[in-house]
Amino acid sequence: MTETNTKNKAQVSIRTLAIDDIAPIFHLGEQLFASNLYPTLYRTWDQWEVTGAFNTDPDFCLVATIDQHFAGFLLGTLIEKNENIYGYIRWLGVSPDFHRMGIAKQLVDRFIERIIVEGADTVLMDTDPANEAAINFFQKTGFANPCEHVFLSLDLTKHDYYGKLLKYEQNRTAQLTEKSQRRP
Ligand SMILES: CC(C)(COP(=O)(O)OP(=O)(O)OC[C@H]1O[C@@H](n2cnc3c(N)ncnc32)[C@H](O)[C@@H]1OP(=O)(O)O)[C@@H](O)C(=O)NCCC(=O)NCCS
Repeated sequence: MTETNTKNKAQVSIRTLAIDDIAPIFHLGEQLFASNLYPTLYRTWDQWEVTGAFNTDPDFCLVATIDQHFAGFLLGTLIEKNENIYGYIRWLGVSPDFHRMGIAKQLVDRFIERIIVEGADTVLMDTDPANEAAINFFQKTGFANPCEHVFLSLDLTKHDYYGKLLKYEQNRTAQLTEKSQRRP
């Protein structure tokens, strides 16, 4: 029996996010949304993404376990705008140990079932254009009509005015810190 077959026979369960899932989700995200692979995802991923989702959208945040081991997560939300209700998949991640076992598909299926109950008729997702695995996955799942979204950045240290302002604030903070450390 191959490893894949063994894995495919494992028991996958999907459940709502619980407080103990916050740390494993954050750490898996750190591993998956790496700066060298997807800089935009890396910059926006932090622990507040997980705790925020847990606090504001508990019903749309899911965890996959495989034989009781944490295997992946989906952090989603519902957007209500005028007459329209959308589901939005903010983050999706599956542990590399469990890739290509249909776990992401199960997470997305359960999420869609939940948003349909709330009246949504469209699901949105976005990712880094270099993220071939995710793009293939979502296209296979039926997502279509990709449209480009451009991320720009401004290096404040190299800007004439903001560079000076930044330096001024850094000096001020350093002086305040030094002063407070000198206090008995
Ligand atoms: C994208 C990701 C969530 C897919 O998870 P997964 O559980 O391995 O996906 P599934 O097993 O449900 O895949 C279903 C189908 O999607 C496609 N797919 C999934 N991963 C793929 C990959 N690496 N390359 C090409 N196609 C892929 C395949 O068609 C696959 O079916 P198949 O295995 O029968 O060929 C996972 O690779 C991941 O966590 N990536 C890093 C995090 C990320 O990019 N998240 C999305 C943006 S927030």
